[in-house]
Amino acid sequence: MKPQAMVGTTKILGGDKTGIARAATLLREGRIVAFPTETVYGLGADARDENAVAAIYAAKGRPSVNPLIVHVKDLDAAQSLTVMSPAAMRLAEAFWPGPLTLVLPLRLGHGLAPSVTAGLPSVGVRVPDAPIARALLEAFEGPIAAPSANPSGRISPTSSAHVLAGLPGRIDAVIDGGKCRVGLESSIVDLTGHHPRLLRAGGITSDQLSTVLGERLSDDGNVTEDAKPSSPGQMTSHYAPNAKLRLNAAHANPGEVLLGFGPVEGAELNLSAEADLAVAATNLFEMLHQLDSNGALAIAVSPIPESGLGIAINDRLRRAAAPRPGITSKTPN
Ligand code: TXA
Ligand code: MG
Repeated sequence: MKPQAMVGTTKILGGDKTGIARAATLLREGRIVAFPTETVYGLGADARDENAVAAIYAAKGRPSVNPLIVHVKDLDAAQSLTVMSPAAMRLAEAFWPGPLTLVLPLRLGHGLAPSVTAGLPSVGVRVPDAPIARALLEAFEGPIAAPSANPSGRISPTSSAHVLAGLPGRIDAVIDGGKCRVGLESSIVDLTGHHPRLLRAGGITSDQLSTVLGERLSDDGNVTEDAKPSSPGQMTSHYAPNAKLRLNAAHANPGEVLLGFGPVEGAELNLSAEADLAVAATNLFEMLHQLDSNGALAIAVSPIPESGLGIAINDRLRRAAAPRPGITSKTPN
C-alpha cells in the first residue's frame, strides 16, 4: 500500500473517488476534514454530531457565538432542515448550486447539533457547486457543517497548502482539490425578516440577487464595532494578513510592497493586470497569503472599483486593513 501523505497528524487526501470515500468515512467517525468548495476551502464535520462540531470550533479557535454554515447536496436536503419562503426558493433556484448562503428559519426536527447554529433559531445553508464538495456530500449522505478552513480571524484558504499552513496537525485530513474557482466566500442573505438583508457580500453580487428578488437588499455590511453583528463575519477586523495593509494606494511608499490592480507599475504582485474583477477575486487571498509568507511587513493595494465583485473584494480588503483587537503582534500562521 502507498504510504499516506501527512503533515503532522493531518492526512492529505486526493480529490479522486478513493480520497472522497476516505473523507466521508472520517466524517462518519466524527473527524474534521477540510475540502475545497468553489469559494474557499471549508473545514467540515457531520453537522448532526455535537462533538465533531465542537472540534471545528476548537481547531479554528472560533468563538462559540459564531454559527457555522451547513452544506447540503441539494434543495430537498435544504428543505429538510429549514423553512423556505417563496423568496428563498427563487434565490435557491437561481443560484444553487453556487456561492450563495441563505439564512433561514430552522425546521422542527432538523437534527442539527445545537452548536452549529450557536443556539440561533436560524441556520445558514448552501449547496456548493465545486465537484469535490458535491461528491463528498453525495458520499457522506448528510449535512456537513463547514466554516472556512483557517484559524479564526485570519485569511481564508484557497488551496490545500493554505489550509495546512494555517491549521497544521489540528485537523484530521484535507482533500487537495487545487485552487478555488471564485476565491471569495459565499454571499450571505438573511431571509428570516420581512425584507432580505445582505449579511456578507461575496461570490454573487447584490445586483444579481436583487434582480431575482425583484427588490433591493438592505445592506448590513457597515456595522460598527459596538453593534452586535447579525453575521459575525461582519466583524470589522477579519481576514487579517500578518502584514499591515494600506488601501487605495497610487504607489508603494518606502517599506511597502504594491499589490496591484490594472496596468500599474512596480507591483510585486498584480490581482489582475487586465483589471478583471473575477480574476482579482480568485487571486486576492492567494496573493495576500503569498505576500505574508514572503515576509512583507506592509502592503499597499491599488484602488479596486466599488462595483460588481469589487464590492466583495473591497469588503475583504477593508476588514484586512482594520485594526485588530486581540492580534497584537505578528501571529505565526
Ligand atoms: O463560501 C463560504 O461561505 C465558505 C465555504 C467553506 O462554504 N464558508 C464560510 O464560512 O465562509 P464562515 O464560517 O467562515 O463564514 C460564515 C458566516 C459567519 O460570518 C457566520 O457568522 C455567518 O456566516 N452565519 C452562519 N450562520 C448564520 C446565521 N444563522 N445567522 C447569521 N449569520 C450566520
Ligand atoms: Mg471564515
